[in-house]
Amino acid sequence: MDFFGRSQGGERALLVQPHPVGRPDPEALLEFTELARSAGAEILDTLSARIESPNPRFYLGSGKVEELRELKEAHAADLILVNANLSPVQERNLEKALSARVVDRTGLILDIFASRARTHEGKLQVELAQLKHLSTRLVRGWTHLERQRGGAIGLRGPGETQLELDRRMIANRVKALEARLDKVEVQRAQARRKRERGELPVVTLVGYTNAGKSTLFNAITGAGVFAADQLFATLDPTLRKLDGLASGPAILADTVGFVRDLPHDLVAAFRSTLSEVKSADLLLHVVDASDPQRNERIDQVNAVLAEIGAGDVPQLLVFNKIDRVPDLQPRRERTDDANRERVFVSAIQGSGLDLLRAAIGERLAGTRIHRSIRLGHDEARLRARLFAAGVVQTESSGEGGWDVEIDAPRAALEPLFGLADGDGERLRGHLKLVAVDAS
Ligand code: GTP
Repeated sequence: MDFFGRSQGGERALLVQPHPVGRPDPEALLEFTELARSAGAEILDTLSARIESPNPRFYLGSGKVEELRELKEAHAADLILVNANLSPVQERNLEKALSARVVDRTGLILDIFASRARTHEGKLQVELAQLKHLSTRLVRGWTHLERQRGGAIGLRGPGETQLELDRRMIANRVKALEARLDKVEVQRAQARRKRERGELPVVTLVGYTNAGKSTLFNAITGAGVFAADQLFATLDPTLRKLDGLASGPAILADTVGFVRDLPHDLVAAFRSTLSEVKSADLLLHVVDASDPQRNERIDQVNAVLAEIGAGDVPQLLVFNKIDRVPDLQPRRERTDDANRERVFVSAIQGSGLDLLRAAIGERLAGTRIHRSIRLGHDEARLRARLFAAGVVQTESSGEGGWDVEIDAPRAALEPLFGLADGDGERLRGHLKLVAVDAS
């Protein structure tokens, strides 16, 4: 399906960067340029356009459209990327006036997500987001025509029917996709519950796109997953077991990179991916320490986290790429506010990872284990030890033993796990604290 005019690698593109009067934003252009490169476009030239109020027909003023047309001819470009959200009408008018394909910001981001989707679920989610984007365009395009229908002979009949059919077809496809995604989501929730029963804490990597999440994911789990010097190298959360923590094994989840102004359709479509973030025990917020905009990036990521309801999940800031900053050494910077604690690492050189493991272990040790277990009469010694450790919430005697509700920080249970006389193993068995295959 090629509704969006997916940009194929090597397309010859011109970028248009609109800005309000008197305030060009080089940072926005830089980001858009990277997005375009990420989509595989070859960028021939850039045109900035001051927009006082968007022209309803072209978004750009007619002088700019003419300038753009000349630039397009001179470079023999075949794709125009506009860093704005164009209305369907504006996009169509521009395409006609320029005889070139025009893709706006949302279209470009969707395109990148589409080319990066790796799992079945990721592909479904992207297709859904694209179709939703498309259907608003068709609907708007259609009502736009309808408004003129009174005097516009020729727009009735087959043309209208075709639009109506397209619209219905898309609506059906959206429904089918949503149903399939719901199913995938149920499966994912089941897998998550299984992990929770296994009681392995989940640590999730988040961060602005290109911060180095996938690289860190590889470095710290020793696994070979896809990483590329492009934006959005990861789309679907990938899960791996994380060993070597004082708190015991955990699951590490890699997630999609955030960008500012993430299209809303996309946020909605990625709800299950993002729910992985919400239900995490700890977020590793990866920051590119060599990025001059790192503080803004942190705020932008936190804004997205708040938007998806993950603003309260504990965080550990990981300043990555210190090899690119003179004088930065691996170190751990504790603060009174644990969520501002920072660990400085280089994922590529593998430096600082021991400090990071220590910090993760310490933070996870504070997470709680809450579970009801059944102890047999032959486990009276273990029961006494649980009471002595103060980890028992409630107890009732049941058939052949006791039903014990345990609710305690992981750290309080840790010494019991280490008991060598068999009780450690017994307790871990009851709590199902066994190695879980997290692949
Ligand atoms: P998205 O999936 O787009 O969100 O990216 P990501 O955050 O997963 O970044 P990724 O791991 O793909 O890394 C992006 C780029 O940064 C790659 O070119 C990496 O090689 C590079 N990179 C990652 N970590 C380091 C590091 O510690 N030092 C240096 N110099 N480069 C790094």
